Amino acid sequence: MGNNISHGTFNTMNFTTIRWVDNEVEILDQTLLPTLEKYVRLHNYREIVAAIKSLQVRGAPLIGVAAAYAVAMAAMQCRNKVEFAVAVNDIKSARPTAVNLSWAVERMLITYHAFSESPDRNRRLLDLAMQIHDQDARMCDRIGINGMGLLPAIGTVMTYCNAGALATGGSGTALSVIYQAFRSGKKLGVYACETRPILQGARLTAWELSREGLDVTLITDNMAGYLMAQGMINCVIVGADRIAINYDVANKIGTYSLAILAKEHNVPFYVAAPTTTFDNRVASGVDIEIEQRSGDEVRRWGSYRTAPETVRVYNPAFDITPNHLISAIITDRELIKCARWSG
Ligand code: MRU
Repeated sequence: MGNNISHGTFNTMNFTTIRWVDNEVEILDQTLLPTLEKYVRLHNYREIVAAIKSLQVRGAPLIGVAAAYAVAMAAMQCRNKVEFAVAVNDIKSARPTAVNLSWAVERMLITYHAFSESPDRNRRLLDLAMQIHDQDARMCDRIGINGMGLLPAIGTVMTYCNAGALATGGSGTALSVIYQAFRSGKKLGVYACETRPILQGARLTAWELSREGLDVTLITDNMAGYLMAQGMINCVIVGADRIAINYDVANKIGTYSLAILAKEHNVPFYVAAPTTTFDNRVASGVDIEIEQRSGDEVRRWGSYRTAPETVRVYNPAFDITPNHLISAIITDRELIKCARWSG
């Protein structure tokens, strides 16, 4: 079914992170950016899981969209319910920290069970995956609108990792706020932190911001404090992978350090995230599972060795920023004022 259906449009920057085409999923391979802008076809749910694990598709909202398409594909391709259950388990455990992934899988499963005996089941699952995709794009736009007023009319914003169009099915979260403010005429400079170990800030944020015509300057992560101390930063804005009930935020490793620096220098610290990133099953940040990734991400850059081959590496991919370090959380629905809110 669905051979002629395609879904997923190119954004204003003329790229798309993911789309459904010819009964397959096509993604922009983010591991190749900024050197190559290459789209690859994923033919089954296993290839989608592999793409999520290898960060060919990444960013919490986009992982959720990819997972929804993976469940739709698994339903079409698995021969029985046992195979489907194995597939769902593989999809759900592809990456543990971004709650958007399990949120999307659980939403797909409700439809799977409701229509498990219906001839319509697979079409309904594909429709739902497309809805999740569209919903994400709409949430991105609303986040941008809800947050743009927080940015200065003329000034400088710091961001971390990539919380842009590349991380979502739409225009981004933190970067959507920057795009909306920019389009409304605000004169903004953006400092993008490189984001060690695998440089989402340098490879992805610098790429998409320059492509959109923003005034972006790249810095290494360890320069952030110096810039704040010089009074060069008006506010920091980042994304999130999971937000606990008490508004503790899991985001890319290094976010916590930036939040402490921001507090020390009296710089507002904003988090932008869709409602699908909130987890009402975790009371606080200590309950959020932090993904541990391969030490080779730190020991090597591609095939180039940057540390002794056998040195022990500790490589948590995310950290927790406690709510008391946050000024506000910008969502698609509202602005949540937190402990550091100063009006
Ligand atoms: O490991 P990644 O690249 O998936 O990490 C991404 C981040 O930490 C983003 O800041 C977060 O997912 C928010 S993206 C809108």
